[in-house]
Amino acid sequence: MKKFTSVRDVENINRLVKEALIEKQFPFANKELGKNKTLGLIFLNPSLRTRLSTQRAAQNLGMDVIVMNLDKEGWSIETKDGVVMDGSAAEHIKEAAAVIGQYCEIIGVRSFPKLLNRDEDYSNEVLNKFIQYAGVPVVSLESATLHPFQSLADLITITEIWNSKPKTVNSKPKVVLTWAPHPKILPQSVPNSFAEWMVRADVDLVITHPQGYELDTRFTSLPPTGGEGRGGVAKIMYNQDEAFKGADFIYAKNWSSYKEYGKILSQDKNWMITNKKMALTNNAKFMHCLPVRRNMIVADEVLDSPASGVIRQAGNRIWSAQIILKKILEQL
Ligand code: CP
Repeated sequence: MKKFTSVRDVENINRLVKEALIEKQFPFANKELGKNKTLGLIFLNPSLRTRLSTQRAAQNLGMDVIVMNLDKEGWSIETKDGVVMDGSAAEHIKEAAAVIGQYCEIIGVRSFPKLLNRDEDYSNEVLNKFIQYAGVPVVSLESATLHPFQSLADLITITEIWNSKPKTVNSKPKVVLTWAPHPKILPQSVPNSFAEWMVRADVDLVITHPQGYELDTRFTSLPPTGGEGRGGVAKIMYNQDEAFKGADFIYAKNWSSYKEYGKILSQDKNWMITNKKMALTNNAKFMHCLPVRRNMIVADEVLDSPASGVIRQAGNRIWSAQIILKKILEQL
């Protein structure tokens, strides 16, 4: 593996999850693999889980880690080509990425969208320029459009929980991705990413949201030529209560509109996840990538109940990062 920016960089997601669960069972089995190798984690936005879980994963593999909050600690970066740099930007991303590549064997980059211009955000300029100029493998720590380490951890969590339940042969979990209200404008990266992993997984995916919050269909359906496994298309439902019926997993997330790009179209509190909503499900586990706003996205009564899987889900971020770093290290 030379980069990890999307599920499209993965050959077989089912095998990847199995391998990640082996890392979880034997975290230090490959401690020699990363010896004398350095992971650079470059953040242009805040993080708790991604920063710490990826560091922990790298340390489990014997790597050294350097972390930089480039937006606060570095020179202001220019990303456009051919510009006269007479403004505030002191360094071009061409040099910045190439220089960081001199210090690290693998680079992780977090760069959120600005949510002002859809085409600009969906071009993922910062991540792609790091890939272009760093000269070493690059992994996404959440881009403008996708969050692959999170989605892999989500699939690991769903697999673990589902495999621990008694079930009939060939049964698949019903997984519901639900929009929920939030006071701020948030990206589509987590739901896009979750959808593009789930349409390739052995699950039935339903996405529920108010009208106008439809995600980019490139992520909610499997292209005719792509991917292994079952493949499929997410079922879109505008009635949350109907969508929740019989669900085995409820994955809540807020996102801003893709169609009316970056706009908040609803703050309807009726979409918050409560015990009453969870009672419609098949004793579902509640999932969220965190951080989560209590009593906006989800009521305390759900988050503090045994139905919540969010801490396990966050814990699985280590194994998601560890299996990907291991695969890249093996090919250095
Ligand atoms: N879920 C997630 O990526 O968390 P952080 O933003 O804290 O890294």
